[in-house]
Amino acid sequence: MSQKDNTIYITTPIYYVNDVAHIGHAYTTIIADTLARHARLTGNKTFFLTGTDEHGQKIETSAAARGKTPKEYADEVSGKFRQLWDDFDITYDKFIRTTDEEHKTGVQKAFQKMFDKGDIYKGNYEGNYCVSCETFYTDAQLLDNAGCPDCGKTTTIVKEESYFFALSKYEDKLLKLYEENPSFILPKAKAKEIVNFVSSGLNDLSISRTSFDWGVKLPSSMNDDKHVMYVWLDALLNYITALGYGNDDKNMEFWPANIQLVGKDILRFHAIFWPAFLMSLDLPMPKHIAAHGWWTRDGEKMSKSKGNVVDPKEIADAYGLDAFRYFMLREVPFGQDGDFSQRALMDRINSDLGNDLGNLLNRIIGMSGKYFDYKITSKDVEKFHKKELDEINTLLDGSEEFFYNLQINRFLEEIWKVLTIGNKAIGDYEPWNLMKDGKTDEAMALVALIVNIMAKVSVLLKSVMPHKVSEIESSLGMIVNTESYNKLIKEKELFSETTITKIDALFPRIEEELIAIAESTSTVTESSAPKQICKNEEKIKIEALEDEANLVTIDKFFETTLKIGTIVEAEEVPKSSKLLRLQVDLGEGRNRQILAGIKEYYSAESLIGTQACVVANLKPAKLMGMESEGMLLAAKDENGLHLLRPEAPKKSGTKVS
Ligand code: MSP
Repeated sequence: MSQKDNTIYITTPIYYVNDVAHIGHAYTTIIADTLARHARLTGNKTFFLTGTDEHGQKIETSAAARGKTPKEYADEVSGKFRQLWDDFDITYDKFIRTTDEEHKTGVQKAFQKMFDKGDIYKGNYEGNYCVSCETFYTDAQLLDNAGCPDCGKTTTIVKEESYFFALSKYEDKLLKLYEENPSFILPKAKAKEIVNFVSSGLNDLSISRTSFDWGVKLPSSMNDDKHVMYVWLDALLNYITALGYGNDDKNMEFWPANIQLVGKDILRFHAIFWPAFLMSLDLPMPKHIAAHGWWTRDGEKMSKSKGNVVDPKEIADAYGLDAFRYFMLREVPFGQDGDFSQRALMDRINSDLGNDLGNLLNRIIGMSGKYFDYKITSKDVEKFHKKELDEINTLLDGSEEFFYNLQINRFLEEIWKVLTIGNKAIGDYEPWNLMKDGKTDEAMALVALIVNIMAKVSVLLKSVMPHKVSEIESSLGMIVNTESYNKLIKEKELFSETTITKIDALFPRIEEELIAIAESTSTVTESSAPKQICKNEEKIKIEALEDEANLVTIDKFFETTLKIGTIVEAEEVPKSSKLLRLQVDLGEGRNRQILAGIKEYYSAESLIGTQACVVANLKPAKLMGMESEGMLLAAKDENGLHLLRPEAPKKSGTKVS
């Protein structure tokens, strides 16, 4: 993809409706959304497709297990995917469902065309099938004679009449495609696996099933009602039926796709079957099939069946949608796996977003207000800061290349280098001293340099963090659109004049204690949602600052009730590396459940029967779905963590004062 293509077509895989959306799904969709937004910003006519994959044996079985018809079930889950993408402000141009009538007709037309071409024939299939992956495997591919090589589940033997697609016929053509288009498969390193697979010989592909019903029927001209199409044939064709293939061809001008994003587990379908189907249909090849890695928890692929999924909505609600987008795109190089951790996310928020980006905007607001009544002109920037401008322009120029090669993490790194130049320039030129020395023009040039840095960076960050950049735009008095992209990035122009507006901190800091709480939970919970806590923390901090010497009155101190508690029960919280679940007697006639992040320092057993000092009037909070009704006091330094305890045993519930 480049800014010179003038129609851009970007697709995500269509998601199976038997799973809840998790951050793995959100990842693909966020990358695609970022690419689509950037394509539009750079002036390209863009079509961005996503949707749901609703047919097949897996969905039929999942629906039956819930006492629903497949369609009812598909409606429900497809609706949830769509709602999630709407909540995430995903700018898809079409959300396709494989149960859409136009899709089904389009698929039948394609089947007919492949048949007429002589690429489809009828036969009998006997072999192994994994319902979970909806994939056929040869005996040699199986693990221990029965296990699916992709998901490990037990495969079943399928023995039925079937139509076949003559995939073997396309072996040489596929190899030629890979050879002549070295960036057809991205990252290029992944192409090797595919080339090896194809070179080792392709079997014809079974493309219809008779043992269940939930799929697209064959075209009526085939007069063969008992077959439904193989779900992968049906699903892959969505990329063209969504453009009107086999119907009105309305948007076929967008074909071939520029980038088809897929996870590495489904690269084979997209890099082998899909181009072969397209060759059979005499359609041009997509420019890139780009395969990303997996988001894992503790090294294992996230999936509902493993029970280790992270809900993207919870994360976005807790940390902010744009911070989540930034994290996903910045943290892991495209193509590689990444283990999801809230600590890493919070570190990115505090460091990259809070310190480097948010703080630079704060400094603009502060300096422009204090020295220039918020009115900024760029008239002397060239004169005083030619060197910085050249550096910035070179970095920004080069950064887009990374973007188009899907090295979005590198693209962001380049942008951050520009922010570093801005932050450093303030320290180097000390505008406060320039003002003191009466060098107002120089101080103005410096502040304007920083404003220009922020403006240029905003243009390029708009597709990554559209909402936060809107806030920056309103502060800088600018609009990011194709015109400003052309002026500030392509033409390397500067802002002429602008008035800065004060806005709230873009990324309020998340405090270390909150990071520790969240780290000890395996998924985000309401109580570990730093956004809410953060606001309170901010409030507490501001109140403390207003109190000049940062002192509290005795009354204020005693708003906290401290009591001695006796730990009567203690056990480890499964899946948490930090938490112990304690039952603590505070002399109230019932024990309180307290979750304490001390597992690394105390074994559960060693705590039973001991006492500790407890904050007894803390608002209950949920950690990993369990209520915690208090907090133990502890002190931590380089020698470890120790609970605060009475010197001699005290009655449970004794007040500490
Ligand atoms: N329905 C098929 C795709 C058909 S496309 C014509 C399918 N659906 S899926 O819901 O199982 O997966 C959709 C996408 O989500 C795949 O690209 C898959 O790689 C991706 N992910 C599922 N789990 C993932 C992670 N844990 N991490 C990153 N992406 C992963 O396959």
